[in-house]
Amino acid sequence: MEKVKSIGDARAASGSNKVSTRDVSVFYGEKQALFDVSVDIPANQVTAFIGPSGCGKSTFLRCINRMNDTIPVARMTGAITLDDIDIYDPRIDVVELRARVGMVFQKPNPFPKSIFENVAYGPKIHGMTRNKSELEALVASSLKRAGLWNEVKDRLHEPGTGLSGGQQQRLCIARAIATRPEVVLMDEPCSALDPIATAIVEELIDELRSNYTIIIVTHSMQQAARVSQKTAFFHLGKLIEHGRTEDIFSNPREKQTEDYITGKIG
Ligand SMILES: Nc1ncnc2c1ncn2[C@@H]1O[C@H](COP(=O)(O)OP(=O)(O)OP(=O)(O)O)[C@@H](O)[C@H]1O
Ligand SMILES: [Mg+2]
Repeated sequence: MEKVKSIGDARAASGSNKVSTRDVSVFYGEKQALFDVSVDIPANQVTAFIGPSGCGKSTFLRCINRMNDTIPVARMTGAITLDDIDIYDPRIDVVELRARVGMVFQKPNPFPKSIFENVAYGPKIHGMTRNKSELEALVASSLKRAGLWNEVKDRLHEPGTGLSGGQQQRLCIARAIATRPEVVLMDEPCSALDPIATAIVEELIDELRSNYTIIIVTHSMQQAARVSQKTAFFHLGKLIEHGRTEDIFSNPREKQTEDYITGKIG
């Protein structure tokens, strides 16, 4: 039996699924971009989505916090649940959903505001703190968890855009976790970062998984192998296979997966 190291691992070992999708298809106008994707995303683990450019990874990721709602031509069929709640139910408050399912984008995109305000914004609009000192404490703890606190604690009121790329991405992670989401979606979060900043963010992802369920899109198979416990391989809008990362990389069931991970397609 696997050794259980933390509460997160214990929950993961108990096998609970945080997000489940059934037969999810997405159309952009007439064009179908995703075909009947059904997958279970376990709680407190990192799941990596891999596959060639244009295979639908970002499209699928955006379904999970209804970001595709903001694209007028996009239409989804199928079902997605978060803790067994149908997130496409008309009664769902999308703003609240996106607080529970946070997102970090490919390019660091801090608001044109101070470092402090970047992190305080979400908790403020969701009324999460009762007073200034509670808000300050939440901002500080989010920056600490994102591994950025020591670098910014003396310059909280300087613009977020004045940070380095790697620092900006950690600021965006702090902003995403400040609303205490349960799931964090990351779309190629390291593609604009150098190897040192990438290593810091990867370490952070590993730490975060004890409290959050993380889904990361990556073009780097090395990154998927380093940070994830589960991997899903997509090709031409279809989920080809998914399972334990070590199995996908060492012993894929499907020829297409093998061709991709050995560099024959991509
Ligand atoms: N807003 C949009 N309008 C129309 N078509 C779109 C839109 N966004 C994506 N598509 C199409 O849907 C398909 C899947 O795109 P998606 O961005 O999800 O792929 P991806 O796997 O994230 O690719 P990459 O690795 O290059 O980021 C592509 O054919 C793409 O052209
Ligand atoms: Mg993409």
